[in-house]
Amino acid sequence: MSDFVKLTYQNKEFEFPLIQGSENEKGIDIKSLRAQTGLITFDPGYKNTGSCKSNITYLNGEEGILRHRGYSIEDLCEKASFLEVAFLLIFGELPTEKELNLLNEEIKKDSLVDEDLKLILKSFPKAAHPMGILASLTSGLTAFNPSTVNIDSEEDMREAIIMLMAKFPILTSWTHRKVKGLPLNYANISLSYVENIAHMLFKLPHQDYILNPIVIDALNKLLILHADHEQNCSTSTVRIVGSSEAGLFASVSAGVSALWGRLHGGANQGVIEMLTAIKRDGGDTKKFMSRAKDKNDPFRLMGFGHRVYKNFDPRARIIKKAANDVLKELKINDPILNIAKKLEEEALNDSYFIDRKLYPNVDFYSGIIYRALGIPTEMFTVMFALGRLPGWIAQWSEMRKNIEPIGRPRQIYTGEKFRTI
Ligand code: ACO
Repeated sequence: MSDFVKLTYQNKEFEFPLIQGSENEKGIDIKSLRAQTGLITFDPGYKNTGSCKSNITYLNGEEGILRHRGYSIEDLCEKASFLEVAFLLIFGELPTEKELNLLNEEIKKDSLVDEDLKLILKSFPKAAHPMGILASLTSGLTAFNPSTVNIDSEEDMREAIIMLMAKFPILTSWTHRKVKGLPLNYANISLSYVENIAHMLFKLPHQDYILNPIVIDALNKLLILHADHEQNCSTSTVRIVGSSEAGLFASVSAGVSALWGRLHGGANQGVIEMLTAIKRDGGDTKKFMSRAKDKNDPFRLMGFGHRVYKNFDPRARIIKKAANDVLKELKINDPILNIAKKLEEEALNDSYFIDRKLYPNVDFYSGIIYRALGIPTEMFTVMFALGRLPGWIAQWSEMRKNIEPIGRPRQIYTGEKFRTI
């Protein structure tokens, strides 16, 4: 096999090296394209563009494979805790017992935020979307913890990472409690990372919060399933913002904003809203299927399709089972679930969806679990952000350590030529 790709342009031949990843994916290294030929590439949405080399996550959309640092998502969901997966993503290996205990201790020590952050929170109207609040509070952390991270110092890097892992669950919980009109609470450091998340979210002021192992297990799985997904929209945002040497908190805040949209993390909220709308409309799934296929109708089947998975989303398989388990254990008979099942069956047998390789993605089922756990619909994307945090941190650290150039795409200008007033 040739190690070069040849490009012929204006009767001249140019060679560009092929690069190969550890799973044999190949790419054309076009770093010298413009210098050699004066050309740039045009790839809206970056559908064919690799923005970086990365050791963190391997994803094969054709075969439905998702692995973090070599471990399959199925294995991790079955055998690891969310904090172990976070350690794996961020530091490269699964932690030993000693490393995990140390991480836990460090997080517990840092599980406080400046009381003045409450002033920012207070100034939001109650109807504000939780993702907007979360992005602001995360960015606000920078103001309260202004020291910049020296990326050459392992200690500095670790401190920033621990700080964010410890404080982000507090911010997500406070966001939730603000929207629900509940008093703000504090971490319970006698609990595990995921138990504490549940405690902070659900504890009511007038009664004890009893941990339900089924809820904790489902939450653990959901968080792991969202922990990283290579160069998706929000992660690319975190990397590109960080590439300007903006700090970790500012970069993650930008990631939260990117995740908010309905075509990305906001899809889980979109799914439940869509299912509710179908139910309210009388439950005719076929009518909505037709709308999804109608090119003159902007309606899309939320929770279907994926930029990379063109066979099935392995996360959707795991979560579908978890959704069934949770609903069974909690004895919830949700009519929305029946509509979801009907839609799924119809779409999987419909040539429009088959031809375009549109399958249910992770968000098709995650909303059903969040709903069963009593998490309000507008909080679903916040839960996604909580899961994605270690991925954002890992990708940000990798980008900073690799000293990647500032992210700055080019364009093909199609506006007016020079003119005068
Ligand atoms: N419903 C109906 N048609 C769809 C859907 C859908 N959910 N998704 C894609 N299509 C159609 C498009 O109209 C297009 O049809 P065409 O070829 O006839 O023009 C074709 O399938 C390809 O779609 P694209 O938008 O080009 O695919 P892309 O890779 O750009 O988009 C995306 C992927 C954004 C996820 C898309 O499938 C979508 O909008 N899905 C619904 C939203 C969703 O569930 N997002 C969550 C993604 S997972 C995550 O972020 C965790």
